[in-house]
Amino acid sequence: ASGCKIGPSILNSDLACLGAECTRMLDSGADYLHLDVMDGHFVPNITFGHPVVESLRKQLGQDPFFDMHMMVSRPEQWVKPMAIAGANQYTFHLEATENPGALIKDIRENGMKVGLAIKPGTTVEYLAPWANQIDLALVMTVEPGFGGQKFMEDMMPKVHWLRTQFPSLDIEVDGGVGPDTIHKCAEAGANMIVSGSAIMRSEDPRSVINLLRNVCSE
Ligand code: DX5
Ligand code: ZN
Repeated sequence: ASGCKIGPSILNSDLACLGAECTRMLDSGADYLHLDVMDGHFVPNITFGHPVVESLRKQLGQDPFFDMHMMVSRPEQWVKPMAIAGANQYTFHLEATENPGALIKDIRENGMKVGLAIKPGTTVEYLAPWANQIDLALVMTVEPGFGGQKFMEDMMPKVHWLRTQFPSLDIEVDGGVGPDTIHKCAEAGANMIVSGSAIMRSEDPRSVINLLRNVCSE
C-alpha cells in the first residue's frame, strides 16, 4: 500500500514521562500517536483516560493526530469528553456496544473521525455492514490488553478481505507489529501501522519508524 502511516503506541513507554515520550516519537518521525485507553473491564488492564489526553494536547500543541484506541466497556460514555480533550479519531470495539450506528453518528457529531475495532475472535463479517460509515477499521493482531505480545499472522485474511471490499478505507493493524511482521501487514493491505514495543524498546526509534514506513509503502 502506498502512503502508510506509522503510529507508535505509547503503552509500553515510560508513563511517568508520557509527554516527553510522545515528543520523542514525534521527533523520530511518527505520523500520529496511538493512545491506548483501557478500563480494567473490557480488558484486564488499566491505562489512562481523557484527563491525560487533555494534558497531552496542551503540552504537544494542536498538530499531532491523536488516534484513541478505546478498549472500554461503555464507549458511548467517553465520546464527548475525548472530543473536548483533543482527540482526533475515536476507535471503539464492536464487541463493546449494542448500537454501533448510534455511536458512529455521535462520534462524527463531536467532530472526530470514526474507527471500528475487532478483537481476534471477531470475524470481519460483523464489521462489514458498518464499513461504509467509518474512516478506519482496526484489525487487532493480538488479544487487546497488553503490549509486547506475539503477532497473530492468521488475522491477515481479515485485512486482505477488507482491503479488497473497501479500497479507500483506512485499515489499521495493532499488536506485535515490527520489522519482522510489517511485510505481512503491508502485503495484506494495511495502511495505518501501530507499533509499540518494537519502536519503544529500540535505541533508534527513527530508523525503526522509517523501516516500517518504507516496507509498507513499497
Ligand atoms: C494492545 C494495544 C496495542 C499495543 C501495541 O492491547 O492495543 O496498541 O500496545 O504494542 P505492541 O506493538 O508492543 O504489541
Ligand atoms: Zn492499541
